[in-house]
Amino acid sequence: MAEKSYKYVILGGGVAAGYGAREFVEQGLKPGELAIISKEAVAPYERPALSKAYLAPESPARLPGFHTCVGGGGDRLTPDWYTEKGIDLILNTEIVEASVANKTLKAATGVVYKYEKLIIATGATFIKLTDFGTPGADANGIYHLREVQDAAALYAAIKATPNGSAVCVGGGYIGLELAAALRLNNLNVTMVYPEPFCMPRLFVSEIAAYYEGYYKEKGIQIIKGTVATGFESNDEGHVKTVKLKDGRELKADIVIVGVGARPNTGLFKDQLTLEKGGFKVDGFFKTSAPDVYAVGDVATFPLKLYNELRRVEHVDHARKSAIQAVKAIKAAEEGKTTEEYVYLPFFYSRAFSLSWQFYGDNVGNAVVWGTDTASNTNGKFGAYWVKDGKVFGAFLEGGSAEENKALAEAARNQVPVSTIKEIAHL
Ligand code: FDA
Ligand code: NAD
Repeated sequence: MAEKSYKYVILGGGVAAGYGAREFVEQGLKPGELAIISKEAVAPYERPALSKAYLAPESPARLPGFHTCVGGGGDRLTPDWYTEKGIDLILNTEIVEASVANKTLKAATGVVYKYEKLIIATGATFIKLTDFGTPGADANGIYHLREVQDAAALYAAIKATPNGSAVCVGGGYIGLELAAALRLNNLNVTMVYPEPFCMPRLFVSEIAAYYEGYYKEKGIQIIKGTVATGFESNDEGHVKTVKLKDGRELKADIVIVGVGARPNTGLFKDQLTLEKGGFKVDGFFKTSAPDVYAVGDVATFPLKLYNELRRVEHVDHARKSAIQAVKAIKAAEEGKTTEEYVYLPFFYSRAFSLSWQFYGDNVGNAVVWGTDTASNTNGKFGAYWVKDGKVFGAFLEGGSAEENKALAEAARNQVPVSTIKEIAHL
């Protein structure tokens, strides 16, 4: 059986892998030391583009345009870059078995990869309605979105269905970003979600009401407080109707399912300590096993700012955690230490001409400003989450780079609530 050995292996070829590879090079990497093993067919890219620019009706973004690390303001690492740096980019290769004790990863191809140090960056996989046994949920025309081939299939369906009907199941990030993308492509779009308002993981009702109102003005129908309980297909097995729990039926040529994601931990689940659904790591992203690190969506890390362990499924953390793990590996090799990871959670989304950013923690009471139509003349509004008289979380729609920076500082420093007015009127 073929075997290959590397000093470092990054398992997974997503966002964290790209930023991790760049950091290895910056810290000093010899040709042949690093391999990235990915089941995807392409070099690491900025996954957020898939639900936004990739689906734009005019001049959609395509690879190689959005390879990492352009999203973080860096150079674009095309496949040639990996070759130049002597990094083995092992694509189309799914690892199906892993042994932490033997330091091996076995691919579906049968090849065994040995490592001295491993960074697990396997990300997450979408949850499907078939996972819940929803009848008809395996029909053609029902789409999920995680990898570039999912986006390509969806894009082709959009182009093949001019003026068709689309239903977005789920009111989170995918639901909101995809509903906008489909509407921009002129489809008749309906969103369906069980909660009383969209993005309940983060928004409060006043924030959600603003976006729901905006979406309705754009012609998107929103049905809340119910779920899809089944799908009917035509004779070719293509979805044609979404059946809702409340008895309603919706015509659909395209269905998008965005009901959450599950971290890809299965390969190591009996070998590494798990916590909150991810691999438990320390402030250097070391797992419970020597020489094994975990970063990005699969890592449950100490969020020092709030003194708790947390898993974060967002791109900023994927980038920064990968950089931190590589720094820690390199420092340890030189007998040095690095600073522990100190992270301020940062989430953002863009849809239509909307663009919001959030920093910190959405705990305590939310104080929302600017959503009333009288004061909201420029589409700008925001919110602060206040606990113990201090700002823990800060949200801003339509902010400038300078304002967003100020927001981040307010959340990072947990400024006293008395200063909120000044921040709001930057
Ligand atoms: P990521 O998912 O990027 O990479 C995992 C890699 O591992 C993939 O290449 C996968 O194929 C590979 N892999 C998994 N198992 C494997 C195996 N057994 N063998 C080989 N390879 C394997 N966040 C944000 O902050 N703002 C945003 O706007 C968006 N937008 C967005 C849009 C869409 C469509 C998605 C799906 C997600 C976002 N996100 C986001 C979330 C963000 O993209 C996500 O948090 C990061 O991609 C996580 O980076 P990772 O490297 O951890 O996983
Ligand atoms: P999500 O957790 O953001 O939203 C899931 C939504 O699914 C819930 O809000 C709820 O409305 C709905 N839901 C849950 N169970 C349901 C059911 N049985 N029937 C119908 N609806 C149900 O997850 P997502 O939107 O699927 O996103 C997937 C992943 O991609 C996440 O990790 C997310 O962070 C990431 N992502 C992030 C961004 C961003 O940060 N801008 C953009 C796109 C995707």
